[in-house]
Amino acid sequence: MTIHKAPRSAALLLTALALLAAPACAPEEADTPQAQAAAVDYTIPPQPELATGYQEKPGWATSEFAVAAANPLATDAGFQVIEAGGNAIDAAVAVQLVLTLVEPQSSGIGGGAFLLLWDGSDVLAWNGRETAPAAADEDHFLQSDGTPLAFQDAVHSGLSVGVPGTLAMLERAHAERGSLPWAELFRPAIALAEEGFAISPRLHSLLQADQGLRRDPVARALYYDEAGDALPVGHELRNPALAAVLRRVADEGARAFYQGAVAEDIVARVQGHPERPGNMTVEDLAAYPEQDFRTEAICTPWRSYSICGFPPPSSGHLAIMQMLGILEHLDETHGEVTGLEEGVPSAAWLHRYLEAGKLAFADRNQYVGDPGFAEAPGGSWTNMLALDYLAERAALIGERSMGTASPGHPGGARENAGLHPEQPDRGTSHVSIVDREGNAVSMTMTIEAGFGSRIMSDGGTGLPGGFHLNNELTDFSLSPLDDAGRPIANRVEPGKRPRSSMSPSLVFDLESGDFVASVGSPGGAAIIHYTAKAIVGMLAWGLDAQEAIDLPNFANYNGPSTLETGRFPSAVLSTLRAQGHEVREAALTSGLQAIQRTPDGGLFGGADPRREGIVMGR
Ligand code: GLY
Repeated sequence: MTIHKAPRSAALLLTALALLAAPACAPEEADTPQAQAAAVDYTIPPQPELATGYQEKPGWATSEFAVAAANPLATDAGFQVIEAGGNAIDAAVAVQLVLTLVEPQSSGIGGGAFLLLWDGSDVLAWNGRETAPAAADEDHFLQSDGTPLAFQDAVHSGLSVGVPGTLAMLERAHAERGSLPWAELFRPAIALAEEGFAISPRLHSLLQADQGLRRDPVARALYYDEAGDALPVGHELRNPALAAVLRRVADEGARAFYQGAVAEDIVARVQGHPERPGNMTVEDLAAYPEQDFRTEAICTPWRSYSICGFPPPSSGHLAIMQMLGILEHLDETHGEVTGLEEGVPSAAWLHRYLEAGKLAFADRNQYVGDPGFAEAPGGSWTNMLALDYLAERAALIGERSMGTASPGHPGGARENAGLHPEQPDRGTSHVSIVDREGNAVSMTMTIEAGFGSRIMSDGGTGLPGGFHLNNELTDFSLSPLDDAGRPIANRVEPGKRPRSSMSPSLVFDLESGDFVASVGSPGGAAIIHYTAKAIVGMLAWGLDAQEAIDLPNFANYNGPSTLETGRFPSAVLSTLRAQGHEVREAALTSGLQAIQRTPDGGLFGGADPRREGIVMGR
């Protein structure tokens, strides 16, 4: 196979984005004075990453295949792999490897991922979530006085780094369902790492804004000039260390990452953190690829569709389907309300949705954790989606805001676990792919916060550059106990996977079983709301993938309601406030990607105008 560097169209798009994007990041997004002042007993999760402008996207119609990813170079890698005869799994591997290089703030080989594949008859799921080291225990993030570390101190540490899962999981998925040789899929990323790629406006802004990355010597040498400024937009960035690591993994397989010099360097960087060292060992890394990556997707009927998503440790599918199920019940018992008014979700619909969001997040914080450790309520996670249970929950929604919801008792579950406090989580990237055979991928990948733990490894190569190590362990509750002294389901335990919000989703026609759509998003806990919005937009409101993605964002994490700044008429905000909602505005920088099957048998893809993604296909 010959794989070329990005075609002119993608390069031109990058240049266009460079010219058009907002010149600086939006400082109001993450830590607004309003948000800080208003946060009494609840903190809105900070935005996944700083906003870098809103660029209209056209939506892309194709007839044979489509690849949708968060960066044009990554999309193009998947495109070229499929053009060269690869399938959706092959393309997903190539996309992830390129994203490690060109969207390093969001995902990469130092992180984890959830992968769903529709192979024409089954939905297969591979769980590449990071794990806590064997030496980690529930005191992992506690200081000597028993209180948890400040959240950002926990993030910027060796303690936050989970054993990376992405490469081992992709290798297993590729071994089971890939078609091209593994090593071929590394060509785009190696070529770009060796020859250089133009730093995008988004990457530049995030590098410039980040306060922690400059302190890492590997990152500082790679991304910053002598004065400490981020290298400019358009700078041709080479990453020889990453290229060398990828060459080894291409030739020797993922064991070249999980054993030997690369693993030793990861451990040295984690254990050698100058302020807050972690306890990961080479044994933790060597053990990771030995696990069973396959898990069972959960497929839930909704209207005339079956929506498939990831089980715990993801909270995503359960929360999305709780909200959609509650809305469906209210439609049946109280009549439908108008969904869209003048192109944006109506106040009446938002009231129901935001209340349903509170109920879903209350259950999420009570029950969801790694199923290898946390007990499913009533013995089964699907008790949380039972129609009679959702009817009980829907009955709690009245004309006025309930303020804060309490968890329910799905499957008769008792509240014997502690209540998880809301913690910020962020970062992440999503790719949707449909190949020429009709196989569909929905994969969400993460290193958690932007640039993860702010620790880079050069893989022991001694060359400039490297890859980012995740901070996924801060997706655990930092405190093992809640205020009442009860153990929290999502507390740190050795070998455990932290709870996730990642919600890769595949949609099918309930009757025929035909593929309808692949969708997902980054965005921390807001992933759940972004993905739900796109699903409702496509399935309930008849929008195409691009229109659904473009809809203004909204979120509730069982407290105040957040609406995307400047995207809703003031009447919507005042109506919600009159109903008792505490309404805030924030940038809500989703990064949705979606591909849907069109009635004529073609495909239509959309990419989020809030980030740099595009769709390519034929
Ligand atoms: N770290 C993002 C998530 O897994 O939800």
